[in-house]
Amino acid sequence: MQSFKDKLNREQLPQHVAIIMDGNGRWAKSRGEKRTFGHKHAIKAVRDVVNACNEIEIPYLTLYTFSSENWKRPEDEVDTLMSLISETLLLEAEEIFTKGLRMHVIGDIGKLPALVQEQMMHLVDITKDNKRGNLILALSYGSQHEILSAVKQISHKVKTGELTEDQITEKVFENHLYTKDFPPVDLLIRTSGEVRISNFLLWQIAYAELQFLDILWPDFGKEDFFKCIYDYQNKERRFGKTSEQLEENI
Ligand code: IPE
Ligand code: IPE
Ligand code: MG
Repeated sequence: MQSFKDKLNREQLPQHVAIIMDGNGRWAKSRGEKRTFGHKHAIKAVRDVVNACNEIEIPYLTLYTFSSENWKRPEDEVDTLMSLISETLLLEAEEIFTKGLRMHVIGDIGKLPALVQEQMMHLVDITKDNKRGNLILALSYGSQHEILSAVKQISHKVKTGELTEDQITEKVFENHLYTKDFPPVDLLIRTSGEVRISNFLLWQIAYAELQFLDILWPDFGKEDFFKCIYDYQNKERRFGKTSEQLEENI
C-alpha cells in the first residue's frame, strides 16, 4: 500500500505541528503493567514523529511532554518521568544535533530538577545554529500561566511608560509569550481519545486544525503522523473567509 508520505503535497505542509502525547498510562494498564512502563515505551513514538517531521521538513514541532498540572501526579511517577527525560536528552543529544535540529524549551523550567535544566540548556545552546528544523519541548508548561505572565510583563511596561495602552497589539502580546519566535500552530494532534486541550498553547492554536485520535501515544508511529498531515491537507482553512473568496484569492 502506498504510504501517506508519498501522497503529501510538499508545497503545503503545516509550518508548526503541536502534539499532546497522551495515553501512556492506559497503554501500560491494558498490558497489566505500571503506568511508568507506558512512559518508557513512549520514547519510540517521540523518535518516530521527530524523524517523520525531519524527513518531510516540517520546520516547527512542539511536543507536550510535561504539563504544569502533571506535578500533581504521585511522586514516584514524576520522578520516573524526570529520569526518563534526562536519560532521553542524554541519549538523543547527538542525533538531534546531527539531524540539524534546533532545540527549544517552553515552560516553567525553574521547577525542573537541576540536572534536567542543565541538560536542556546545553542542548539548546549547542544546537542554536542548526537550521533544518525546530524541536520545541513543552516542559512544566501551562498556557494560562504563560498568558498571565505576559499580562504581568506588559502591565509593568505600561506602568513604567515603556508601552502605552494603544501600543498593546496582538503582535506585542505574542512577543511576551514563550513562543514569540515560532509561527502559530497549524495543526494540533492529541492521541488517546480525549477531546480536550489540557492547558496547552491556548493563544497559539486560535486557528489550528485540531485532530483527536483514538490511538494511545506509545502506539503512534510515522505512518499515523503522515496520515495526520494528509488529513490536514484535505481541510480548507478559511480563516473567517468564504470558500468563494479563497478560490478567487481575495
Ligand atoms: C501522557 O500519558 C504522558 C504525560 C502526561 C506525562 P498519560 O500518563 O497521561 O497517560 P494516560 O492519559 O493516563 O493514559
Ligand atoms: C496532557 O495530558 C499533558 C501531556 C500530554 C504532557 P494529561 O494526561 O496530563 O491531561 P489530562 O489531565 O487528561 O487532561
Ligand atoms: Mg493523560
